[in-house]
Amino acid sequence: MEIIIRDDYASVSQQAAVAVADLLRAQPQAVLGLATGSTPLGLYQELIRLHREENLDFSQVTTFNLDEYVGLAADHPQSYHYFMHDNLFRHINVPHENIHIPDGTASDYRAFCESYEARIESCGGIDLQVLGIGSDGHIAFNEPGSSLASRTRIKTLARQTIDDNARFFDSVDDVPIYAITMGVGTILDARKIILLANGANKASAVADAVEGPVTSMCTASVLQNHPDTIFFLDTEAADQLKMADEYRWIQDNKPGAP
Ligand code: F6R
Repeated sequence: MEIIIRDDYASVSQQAAVAVADLLRAQPQAVLGLATGSTPLGLYQELIRLHREENLDFSQVTTFNLDEYVGLAADHPQSYHYFMHDNLFRHINVPHENIHIPDGTASDYRAFCESYEARIESCGGIDLQVLGIGSDGHIAFNEPGSSLASRTRIKTLARQTIDDNARFFDSVDDVPIYAITMGVGTILDARKIILLANGANKASAVADAVEGPVTSMCTASVLQNHPDTIFFLDTEAADQLKMADEYRWIQDNKPGAP
């Protein structure tokens, strides 16, 4: 696990975009796993800028999103379909047929989840997975107590997540309580993972994930077992890390560091 601490959200987003862009330039047919929520917005804006100004090409890229609320149609303004098209896909040249987002209105959820896993596999697996982290330590919607071997399935959201996400809805009662989500095991299969976190409300979850025990009570902690994961943090999100100075020192002295 590599920990990169930056002064602010803008530099976190920019550094994460460099990681994505480096991959796409080396591997134009890469398969990306994508997240929604507030955290990756700066990353997506930077990718859009790189596409417009530096010809970053998405024409051969395939994408898989982590999750979607159950019951929200693709054109619902709070659906993750809507979010992804609005904040990324309509601004870049990724082919429509290469975009995959769980279907929150599937009539047979179990069959849909199995087919989502099969589709990831048939595309060769995820090369780079982008993650945020919930204030309860969740990745995707793998809430505390989720199996660390779980695959794509329906999950009931934790009440804390419903409260956290109420800011996107008119009222907390409008927040769906179920989501289709990639499992922890699905995420761990990605060849590379980048997790972004900013703001003081993520500091405790980040500390649990990076320096706590590996436990299903903080599903992000399982990333300690992944061979190629980078956490991009702003100073507020890194504030409860006991070894923050050590992580900074390691970055400053990395082979090839300026
Ligand atoms: C979203 C997702 C979630 C969010 C997490 C943080 O696709 O999988 O795990 O990454 O809830 O959300 P924000 O970024 O809004 O704080």
